[in-house]
Amino acid sequence: MNDANAVNADPEGPLQQQIDALGPWFHNLHLPGGAQTLPRHFLGGDFPNFKWQEMSPFVPEDLSGWRVLDVGCNAGFYSFELARRGARVVGIDVDEHYLAQARWAARQFGLHEQVEFRHMQVYDLARCDECFDLVWFMGVFYHLRYPLLALDLLSARTRRFMMFQTLTMPGDSVYATPPDCSIDDRTPLLESGWPRMAFIEHRLAGDPTNWWAPNHAGVEAMLRTSGLRVEARPGHEIYLCVPDAKAHGARDVYEPQFKSVFGVRAGPQSGG
Ligand SMILES: C[S@@+](CC[C@H](N)C(=O)[O-])C[C@H]1O[C@@H](n2cnc3c(N)ncnc32)[C@H](O)[C@@H]1O
Repeated sequence: MNDANAVNADPEGPLQQQIDALGPWFHNLHLPGGAQTLPRHFLGGDFPNFKWQEMSPFVPEDLSGWRVLDVGCNAGFYSFELARRGARVVGIDVDEHYLAQARWAARQFGLHEQVEFRHMQVYDLARCDECFDLVWFMGVFYHLRYPLLALDLLSARTRRFMMFQTLTMPGDSVYATPPDCSIDDRTPLLESGWPRMAFIEHRLAGDPTNWWAPNHAGVEAMLRTSGLRVEARPGHEIYLCVPDAKAHGARDVYEPQFKSVFGVRAGPQSGG
């Protein structure tokens, strides 16, 4: 979906008409008064509320004073939940269609002063000097052609937690990778739990923007090398991470590449 001319909902029209005018929806939002934006979701159940129910016990009840970044915010379901806990939220998305839904819904919920929605690529954050207490990075990683650029950038901007989710390959095994591997014997790379990421040349679930599917070991290894430690796994394919200074070693190795792409290092330039 990328419709910069998204139909504007008539703010005076009946609510269901406004919902329909803003469709199609991906998030089922429960609006004040009981109306829902996508009650019969193609992913089954009440999406993404059923995912939020898994994660919400892992998020502090009181987020007053927290700044939160919701990457690929879509219609803002998670932005609104986090704002309800007191956070100030920045939601970013590349798709104006979804941002129009999010801005409309923010007004319906009366959260428009707490949540700001910006039309941005995740990579554009390299040009902003912002850090966030909580980075919500759900359902976007595998849509990115350059996923590690985004992960390294977001990791460097995370003060307290990152909630990370990606599409994955089946399997949970983890192979204890050696500190080095011989160039003459690369058979360990074939072990089932070796960190890896499948490249999807064509489509997955009909979507040509599903580029990658890492395995569980690959997710953990990528998070580690980007400077994060996995604290908990609130649900399938979901990782709650915290910054880990000890894991920053790899940053020295990749920082020159990052700087060559963005012209700046991954962390905020002012130290903020
Ligand atoms: C699968 S949806 C996930 C929505 C939401 N985060 C969730 O977990 O329900 C992916 C969202 O990421 C957005 N997106 C895709 N590529 C992006 C990018 N490069 N930068 C920012 N947002 C992106 C899409 O427009 C879409 O709204």
